[in-house]
Amino acid sequence: MTFIEVDHLTKIYTPKGAGEVRALDGLDLAVPKGTITALLGPNGAGKTTTVKVLTTLIRPDAGTAVIDGIDVSRHPERIRPIIGVSGQYAAVDENLTGFENLEMVGRLYHMGARASRQRAKELIDIFELTEAMNRPVKGFSGGMRRRIDLAGALVTRPTVLFLDEPTTGLDPHGRLGMWDIITNLVGEGTTVLLTTQYLEEADRLADSISVIDEGRVIALGTADELKASSGGQRVEINLVTADDREAALEVLTRYGSAQPTVSADGRSLTVGATDAPAALYGILGEFTDRNIRLYDAGMRRPTLDEVFLRMTGHAASTTPPEEKPDELVARRDHDGAGHGPHPDEHRAKARPAESKQKRSA
Ligand SMILES: Nc1ncnc2c1ncn2[C@@H]1O[C@H](COP(=O)(O)OP(=O)(O)OP(=O)(O)O)[C@@H](O)[C@H]1O
Ligand SMILES: [Mg+2]
Repeated sequence: MTFIEVDHLTKIYTPKGAGEVRALDGLDLAVPKGTITALLGPNGAGKTTTVKVLTTLIRPDAGTAVIDGIDVSRHPERIRPIIGVSGQYAAVDENLTGFENLEMVGRLYHMGARASRQRAKELIDIFELTEAMNRPVKGFSGGMRRRIDLAGALVTRPTVLFLDEPTTGLDPHGRLGMWDIITNLVGEGTTVLLTTQYLEEADRLADSISVIDEGRVIALGTADELKASSGGQRVEINLVTADDREAALEVLTRYGSAQPTVSADGRSLTVGATDAPAALYGILGEFTDRNIRLYDAGMRRPTLDEVFLRMTGHAASTTPPEEKPDELVARRDHDGAGHGPHPDEHRAKARPAESKQKRSA
């Protein structure tokens, strides 16, 4: 069942002294109940604007947004009780403690004093903020702020949750913790729409990914479907020495379906191929004949980074440092000895695929 349905949403800003900005330009979305959908897009794509419309903070100029059968623009008062939102910038009262912030949310929603305190305590435990619960938020780290802000969005046990870049600014440990929390929430039946600029995050968490650029959806599917749509497998080779680069490039160009790409150090070469096994076989034969020495070689599917680049025509600007495209194409262990899995394969293994399936079943 579709829980969030967005149809041709359009939002035009007309800032003073500047031309109009088409922040949303006919955006469509359909989010099934109890699933996570990721809105993946670069700066200015329209992610926050979408969240603002869906959480009744702004009204669209055209199009409709419906949550659980309720039109967001017509009945905002019926939407607000069923949603939770954690905005791009944490909205917490600096002078209150973590506990007081959560308790205040409960009181604002008329939960009653006792129930508010009890819920605040529960959330403090879930988010592992026990030690900080009696400290004013102004002394919190960025990660703690993010957690207390998300906890605030959960006080009323919303059935649908909007998370605008929930892990931006978190360190890798903080990001993993947040991913666990989000996965658990959906396990309990919450429907989640999250925005992210992190390809890995969308890959790891989302049942479905909507890639958006300039206010509209430019691609839609699971991470696997998006990768498959990006034109075949990749053949990747790593040279012992960059001195062989030109000779290797010449061979790859003949066997590939597009222009090969070369890493900054000149030793990793990647090319798309419609029949990757045949291409790899031919390339290895020619390398042997020409005495081009290999560190390793192999086939792999495109990374989401490559998919994104292909679809938007520009890179995802804020890819976190540990998954820069250069590193993603840097190493692949062909014969199983030595250098560990490709980061992309590693991700595929680490991802909670099982729970994703269970959830959407
Ligand atoms: N209040 C506003 N007034 C004028 N223009 C705005 C306003 N809010 C957003 N915009 C513009 O609308 C477009 C979409 O902005 P939005 O904040 O939705 O992008 P985003 O995908 O959330 O980007 P980011 O990743 O930087 O958070 C941008 O061009 C932005 O400059
Ligand atoms: Mg934003």
